[in-house]
Amino acid sequence: MDTPLIDPFQRAISYLRVSVTDRCDFRCVYCMSEHMTFLPKKELLSLEELDRMCSTFIGLGVEKLRITGGEPLVRRDIMTFFRSMTRHLDSGALRELTVTTNGSQLERYAADLYAAGVRRINVSLDTLDEEKFARVTRWGRLPQVLRGIDAAQAAGLRVKLNAVALKGFNEDELFSLTRWCAARDCDLTWIEVMPMGDLGNEDRLDQYWSLKDLRARLGEEYSVTDLAERTGGPARYVRLEETGQKIGFITPLTHNFCESCNRVRLTCTGELYMCLGQEDMADLRAPLRASNDDALLKEAIRAAIARKPKGHDFDYSRQKADGQMSRHMSHTGG
Ligand code: 5AD
Ligand code: SF4
Repeated sequence: MDTPLIDPFQRAISYLRVSVTDRCDFRCVYCMSEHMTFLPKKELLSLEELDRMCSTFIGLGVEKLRITGGEPLVRRDIMTFFRSMTRHLDSGALRELTVTTNGSQLERYAADLYAAGVRRINVSLDTLDEEKFARVTRWGRLPQVLRGIDAAQAAGLRVKLNAVALKGFNEDELFSLTRWCAARDCDLTWIEVMPMGDLGNEDRLDQYWSLKDLRARLGEEYSVTDLAERTGGPARYVRLEETGQKIGFITPLTHNFCESCNRVRLTCTGELYMCLGQEDMADLRAPLRASNDDALLKEAIRAAIARKPKGHDFDYSRQKADGQMSRHMSHTGG
């Protein structure tokens, strides 16, 4: 029996986020430039390699797997991978298999995801206005995503919306989004926009809107109660007493949540990032490809976890000279 992954700060690593592709069918202004160059196919882990990678982590105590991208559901044949993870749910080793998606392919895949054992999904949606949606995603179309959310709920998937808080863009939708989620029984989490490199946004649609301000504004219409619960991640939750809704806030820039961090991130090329806010990573593709036996891979994973830093350095006041992380969310998977 393998001993579980414990980092130098006694945090058990039980949560792996896996980006299965760097590609996306949208070009959100805060995430990608319009003319992205994507990785050549040979750089990517194959679906079989992704299976081996995830299965090895599960063997080392990972209980929760979140599949991300890019847009994970645009990867060719990705349902084969989801179905291959079902065996770990069946055995009880894996407690949860989830996905973060832009919703564009959900109409097609919602039922398959449910059949594979997925029960909850996160859908990224910043606005309910068609024109604004097209502006922020550049290539996305809102009706397609709304049909996807319908299909997901009809299939039995619990849907959580993730909205990036953008000053001057969706500030005016704070209440309409809240009501929409209440009416549809979706959870809602707001995410502070992170500085992710110069994306050439002529539009300046990536302006920081503090969640502290957002919360205060919610308080003008609702009685807002802070909830103590944490999920090991950066989200904090409040309850709106009038509707019973739980609203999440993810504030990577202003809150310190590192002490309870239980997660690491694997990119689609097999790099393991021990912290979203740090550049340090470990290449797991080489040890994976070096032999059919998982011993080398396990050793590389343990060595990486032993380097997991205590915390991130994502503070606006403590950044590198250019003030940015050079990595994009589509690479590390959010
Ligand atoms: N800041 C905050 N969230 C971002 N995402 C992508 N880029 C950024 C950014 N710069 C979010 C998407 C989605 C998830 C995959 O990452 O909106 O919710
Ligand atoms: Fe695609 Fe999500 Fe990035 Fe938008 S934020 S371009 S949907 S990966």
